[in-house]
Amino acid sequence: MSAHERFRFKTLDDVRRRVDELGLDLEFDEDLSPLAQPIEMDGRTIPNRLIVHPMEGCDGERDGRPGELTIRRYERFARGGAGLLWFEATAIEHAGRANPRQLTITAQTLPYIKEMLDHSLGLAREANGAGFRPFTVLQLTFSGRYAKPDAKRAPVLAHHDGVLDKAMGIPADHPLITDDELDAMQGRWVEAARLAREAGFDAVDIKSCHRYLLSELLASFTRRRSQFGGEYENRTRMIRQTAEKVRNAVGEKLAMLCRRKGYAFIVPVDSKRTFEPAKTLHARGKALARGAYRKLVLRRGEEDTASHRRHLPRGAGEKGRRVYRFHLSVTEVLH
Ligand SMILES: Cc1cc2nc3c(=O)[nH]c(=O)nc-3n(C[C@H](O)[C@H](O)[C@H](O)COP(=O)(O)O)c2cc1C
Repeated sequence: MSAHERFRFKTLDDVRRRVDELGLDLEFDEDLSPLAQPIEMDGRTIPNRLIVHPMEGCDGERDGRPGELTIRRYERFARGGAGLLWFEATAIEHAGRANPRQLTITAQTLPYIKEMLDHSLGLAREANGAGFRPFTVLQLTFSGRYAKPDAKRAPVLAHHDGVLDKAMGIPADHPLITDDELDAMQGRWVEAARLAREAGFDAVDIKSCHRYLLSELLASFTRRRSQFGGEYENRTRMIRQTAEKVRNAVGEKLAMLCRRKGYAFIVPVDSKRTFEPAKTLHARGKALARGAYRKLVLRRGEEDTASHRRHLPRGAGEKGRRVYRFHLSVTEVLH
């Protein structure tokens, strides 16, 4: 088996043949009717089991409105008939954008985002029947260390990380976001959720994965003298407080989801092999994560990247080696 091959199959028989050639233990079911069944989620009905994941196209306008290609993407997703449309990462404010073309939800962009949603829901009805309404989620984000709202990167760090800071060229004296700033930011999450509700979304996702700010806070073992660092209680405080404030401000009508980091770890990849089969990486990563996690729990407060490093082969992250960050995200319903 090659390390990686493209998925070019046209028929199920093509897939079956390849699976046989590879000697894999994969089962197939030709009855797709379970995918058409509705499902209840937190008292709401999702009309079928198909989901469009959040996927940014980085094609919004400079002011955060959806652009022509953004609108076209959701037109196609909506016509497709998925029961859940998860609208892509949308910054809660300009400073939190991951790129200058990321969507941003503000009072100014609200009418455009609402128009895109209404237009998409209209097309979903047109293509799938008058009674068809997909469940819609808007993913809210603040990009943290990956913030690049304008031409240059403007990282907002919850803590320093030896591996990532080095890879991103962030100096050791780059200031961390303060507790006061995090407190103040909660109000902007609330405002973004309120606007999402006003636009007509069924839910918001308080994005806490992929190492953006809320995800980095979950890993902020080494953040000292901070109510958002160290102990589990502190590291989860931002999500908990934000969710509570959103709930109090927006009420029960808006469902609240949280796509969060399940585990994340750093795996070195030999530069000669550009890709390892995901399964191998997964197994290696999981083993690394278990080891690193044990250490982190045992020695809380210790430089977390240093303890990560102890689990990596020598030379990982150094010149000639690529470092692969591996994430597993899970989504929870927040109450
Ligand atoms: C182009 C692109 C944009 C993405 N944008 C987002 C995003 O805005 N928010 C998010 O949580 N995940 C984003 N993802 C991750 C996807 O939601 C998804 O989890 C990931 O692609 C893994 O699924 P797959 O194996 O089917 O591609 C993006 C992925 C791609 C390829």
